[in-house]
Amino acid sequence: MRTQVGIIGAGPAGLLLSHLLHLRGIESVVLERRSREYVERRVRAGVLEQGTVDTLVEAGVGERLKREGLPHHGIELRYGGAGHRIAFERLVPGRSITVYGQQEVVKDLIAARLAAGGDVRFEVDDVALHDIDTDRPYLTFGGERLDCDVIAGCDGFHGVSRASIPEGVLTEYRRDYPFAWLGILARVKPSSEELIYARTERGFALHSMRSPEISRFYLQVAPDEDLEAWPDERIWAELRARLETVPGFTLATGDIVERGITPMRGFVAEPMQHGRLFLAGDAAHIVPPTGAKGLNLAVADVRVLTEALARFFADGSTEALDGYSRACLPRVWRAQHFSWWMTTLLHTFESDDAYARRLQTSYLDYVTSSEAAGTTLAENYVGLPYEEETS
Ligand code: APR
Ligand code: PHB
Repeated sequence: MRTQVGIIGAGPAGLLLSHLLHLRGIESVVLERRSREYVERRVRAGVLEQGTVDTLVEAGVGERLKREGLPHHGIELRYGGAGHRIAFERLVPGRSITVYGQQEVVKDLIAARLAAGGDVRFEVDDVALHDIDTDRPYLTFGGERLDCDVIAGCDGFHGVSRASIPEGVLTEYRRDYPFAWLGILARVKPSSEELIYARTERGFALHSMRSPEISRFYLQVAPDEDLEAWPDERIWAELRARLETVPGFTLATGDIVERGITPMRGFVAEPMQHGRLFLAGDAAHIVPPTGAKGLNLAVADVRVLTEALARFFADGSTEALDGYSRACLPRVWRAQHFSWWMTTLLHTFESDDAYARRLQTSYLDYVTSSEAAGTTLAENYVGLPYEEETS
């Protein structure tokens, strides 16, 4: 078997890359370890930047997103007994975010790939990469061989792609946080129209949503927290304690339909390429979810990689491919910093003393009262324009 681009992983990065390449007349095969049902059900974050929405709409996969996605023009920071709105429409006019679950994006992309006759293979075992530092790389899996011009490693943080790069090539930067997020999806109407990021003495909580009937919540918990220790009543009691901190706000509760614990870390591997292997999305970098940047960064990488591959397949020029990592990394690091900053601003760190807590409050007061500081949060949250990182 032979294809132009062998793509490992059918998450948002791999699927979108395959779809954008198809629109440019470039062939690919996507190899995914899990089943289609599994990837379509995997609940992840759900905040899409304007640029991400535009990318999906321009690629022809935004129809349901436009219909069911929830446009948001602000978020609330809740602390010290009051809520403070970060008003995107005033601070970053014309820019907003859309709340739409990542697994919905995945469903839409899989449907589009299959409708166009795309080759997406699920439950593929033992993908291995070979000869990536030659111009004839190939993949093997389940006794088959796939020859490629280029391989795209879109297989997430724990994938095989990054691990196949020889030792000494990559420099890895990481930050592990001393807490995790316990996330739930509940069948209940959201208690707020906008997302609430709550900082309390008991730890951080986030109120998000998926639809007018489904809410999404997160609680800061210990890094080694046992999900078994959190029966429904305890989850709701803790969410109430952290969110019902302003007068007149009552949290509506309902059936919990999904739950999980996510570790919090930042990670970047540099460069995001080696020979004919290019890493995109979580395979190359991850961020703590506080800034809601993971999926958006994956989309930004894939846009850059698509352009570079289109040039390569048009005239054989490797200039844009050679510059792939350099083109992506400024946005990657901006998102690392923003995610670290949001995390630091809102979570309880055991190591913090009273002085550090006061600094945190002071910064929150500044962000919620100063036009300049509020704009810093808003412009990063809605997402910086693409041109800035590619020019
Ligand atoms: N072989 C084949 N597929 C693999 C392998 C492997 N060895 N290892 C992992 N995969 C698959 C995973 O099952 C998953 O479906 O690669 C896919 C990677 O998808 P994601 O983890 O969703 O990563 P990405 O597409 O980069 O999307 C980034 O996902 O993790 C979230 O918050 C993150 O929103 C961000 C987004
Ligand atoms: C979500 O809805 O899942 C979500 C929203 C905002 C975040 C993280 C996750 O910062």
